[in-house]
Amino acid sequence: MRKALAAVAGLAVAGLALAGCSGSSGGKDGGDPNQVEVFTWWASGSEKLGLDALTKVFNEQYPDVKFVNAAVAGGAGSNAKNALASRLKANNPPDSFQAHAGAELTDYIEADKLEDLSSFYEENKLNDVFPKTLLDRLTVDGKVYSVPSNIHRANVVWINTELLNKAGIDPKKAPADIDGWLADMKKLKDAGVATPLSVATDWTQVQLFENVLLSDLGADGYQGLWDGSTKFDDPQVTKAIADYGKLLSYANTDGTGQDWPVATDMVIDGTAAYNVMGDWALAEFDSKGKTYDKEYTTWPTPGTDGTFDFLADSFTLPKGAPHADAAKDWLRTISSADGQKAFNLAKGSIPARTDANADDYPAYQQGAMASFAKDTVVSSLAHGAAVKVSWLNDITSAIGQYVSTKDAGALQDGLVQAQTKGLGK
Ligand code: GAL
Repeated sequence: MRKALAAVAGLAVAGLALAGCSGSSGGKDGGDPNQVEVFTWWASGSEKLGLDALTKVFNEQYPDVKFVNAAVAGGAGSNAKNALASRLKANNPPDSFQAHAGAELTDYIEADKLEDLSSFYEENKLNDVFPKTLLDRLTVDGKVYSVPSNIHRANVVWINTELLNKAGIDPKKAPADIDGWLADMKKLKDAGVATPLSVATDWTQVQLFENVLLSDLGADGYQGLWDGSTKFDDPQVTKAIADYGKLLSYANTDGTGQDWPVATDMVIDGTAAYNVMGDWALAEFDSKGKTYDKEYTTWPTPGTDGTFDFLADSFTLPKGAPHADAAKDWLRTISSADGQKAFNLAKGSIPARTDANADDYPAYQQGAMASFAKDTVVSSLAHGAAVKVSWLNDITSAIGQYVSTKDAGALQDGLVQAQTKGLGK
């Protein structure tokens, strides 16, 4: 394994040397040196609106640099991550790409595909403006390889208030735990709501499972899964799998293959009562003209109040990027107060910078900012913060099989094996 990584690293260095021959920021593609090709998965809908808000600030701050949008559609990077891996393998990197703060970058860092941005952080005084919880997750062996644009929360339930009211449930009162939530789902079913809970494609199913793990194991038990101090054969994991199965029995069964807005839109249009989704869903509700605490509301997933399930979109500078100088301009916009404000207002997330003013944000985000400041922060599984990509892929396929077979024992075995492999044991 180490040998293979070293070989990839060697190739990357060779690629860098070649790129260097054709001029540091002139680009090996021979194109306009004043451009920056940015790779994300914010290709459409409310996510594209967020990217557009950010590029608007970029165009104002760097009017001479052309923004080249290399977005690949598919929520949570479901298609983008493979496309990116191919480009990096072929030494054809974009100038900057979207990733998540945390373990997701491990393989690329080990394969020497990313520039160390420590001096960029120093020059731009970024160590002073990002919170320690975030800096800790960005730092690997004392180096930092990406610049965060935002912080999203992954343990949020989005709720159609009208459906709950009709079933005699107070939408503002969150159930204390999964059992209480299941009891409310039964009430909804009895009141004629065919789909109390909506799910979409595989990663949304993983995100739902991550929420159940967090609820049943608590913050410490959940975090322990990723360093091995909690084992996946733990009885609490057995309980979480049982709870997950019960929740899925109240969910639509046609989610696989559908991107996340399909599931969130079911709450928006009143065909489902609940959807567990990261707070990028806020932008979807906004784009459909819905008002927070009126047509919809939110609470932390039952049993997870006081815990903030964290992820942060974060941008890199790949080794051999054709327009490295322009990429640094892009990273400066992302980290600037103006860039973060414009982006986060449109994206539903909260600014990564600690000097942001809560009064600039609407009610949901003010609440998220307050929670992030006081809650226990844990790392999202489905969104790159907790484990490296190969481990997440193993978990995703085990859950995918469970969703079709409902074989709880096989899921737990699969999770045990994924942990053993993921921890390199
Ligand atoms: C996450 C990403 C969010 C949002 C979401 C759905 O992984 O961090 O910004 O884009 O996927 O696509």
